[in-house]
Amino acid sequence: MKDLSPKKSDLDPIEIASRDEISALQLERLKWSLGHAYRNVPMYKKRFDDAGVHPDDLKDLKDLAKFPFTYKNDLRDNYPFGLFAVPRQEIIRVHASSGTTGKPTVVGYTKSDIDNWADLVARSLRAAGLRKGDMVHNAYGYGLFTGGLGAHYGIERLGATVVPMGGGQTEKQVGLITDFKPDGIMVTPSYMLNILEQFNKQGMDPRESSLAVGIFGAEPWTDAMRREVEDAFDMHAVDIYGLSEIMGPGVANECVETKDGPVIWEDHFYPEIINPETGEVCEDGEQGELVFTTLTKEGLPMIRYRTRDLTRLLPGTARSMRRMEKITGRSDDMMILRGVNVFPTQIEEQVMATGGLAPYFQIELFRAGRMDAMRVLVEVVPTAANEASRRAAERMLVKRIKDVVGISTEVIVGDPGSVARSQGKAVRVVDLRPKE
Ligand code: DLL
Repeated sequence: MKDLSPKKSDLDPIEIASRDEISALQLERLKWSLGHAYRNVPMYKKRFDDAGVHPDDLKDLKDLAKFPFTYKNDLRDNYPFGLFAVPRQEIIRVHASSGTTGKPTVVGYTKSDIDNWADLVARSLRAAGLRKGDMVHNAYGYGLFTGGLGAHYGIERLGATVVPMGGGQTEKQVGLITDFKPDGIMVTPSYMLNILEQFNKQGMDPRESSLAVGIFGAEPWTDAMRREVEDAFDMHAVDIYGLSEIMGPGVANECVETKDGPVIWEDHFYPEIINPETGEVCEDGEQGELVFTTLTKEGLPMIRYRTRDLTRLLPGTARSMRRMEKITGRSDDMMILRGVNVFPTQIEEQVMATGGLAPYFQIELFRAGRMDAMRVLVEVVPTAANEASRRAAERMLVKRIKDVVGISTEVIVGDPGSVARSQGKAVRVVDLRPKE
């Protein structure tokens, strides 16, 4: 793999500023953001008043803990534009999440928000090892999803060439990568596996492709998956994190020189980790739910937004800003089987570690008698598609999940291609349990 570490002189000064400088900037911006939300969004005014707090009560960053949380449901309850803090005419773009249940959540950006977003995605790409003049294949979905356009503007802002491919049409993706020879690719990690499969189908060696770095996010993925993809393509795989409510892709991004968890762009987003049950703020290093407050957003300021993503805050390494540990899962994705908490990423690790299996999997939850049970659907690699290897892989995966994760599962080793392929964000869990 190529050494892609950026030069220090290419970084934004704030990326390597002292902690004191970063905290001073955060405090100043936080005061502005709380005031902006309070003055312009009726929900925030009411919430703050009800809680007996006023933006002037924030004297220190720690005082943020006195302010109430914001939840995804608040966006739904104020659908579509009720949380916007500027007149609708100043919003130059909206995005929306599809939302599996109920109304979608709508987010809006002013011109300055879009500008900051492009800057932060450009900063993220530079952290990933890309630079001006490179070419980037963008396979995040365009449209209401923030992935496609968010990445697109950032690639342009960096001064790189964007190939605005979007999701789907896997054969065409591979054709374009082969013909255009991009340096980087932006795509969900699960869809990257589809692209890998297509390379193999066409008899092409992915290690011969031009790709030097992949910037993967929008869904949880493990270090085991990182090794799989890095090895298959002979390229770097780095993690990009973000969520629509806070901005979109590029809230945090991993540095290619360390690959030790996404660096949170703390000059624009203030992170906290809280205990999801009590709402209390945890110390850095403790595991809990990630909460963000936006520091510069005009269109849709978010105060203490509960992401439901579970992680820890870690000290800066390649940058002064803090990192988040690679996300293990969302509280919504947690399955509880006979009292044991399980995340799909834990199953992913074991699938990747089992010889003879392709890196595709899906989990089914079903009812066995009165108990919940789990079935893991996987597939053999085409080169080992005989009965004996299937049986061996099945036994091995059952044993690994039992030994490492601590639960009993059924494993079905299907034919190559039998597991549903991702077109964007992978659907890891299919719930077949009867609705109560
Ligand atoms: O997925 C934004 C995005 C697009 C991020 C492209 C990265 C790349 P939403 O659709 O609002 O926005 O979903 C946000 O996706 O709360 C996490 O649960 C999950 N997620 C996003 N990035 C990561 C990541 C986009 N790197 C939700 N690792 C978030 C794990 C991630 N989970």
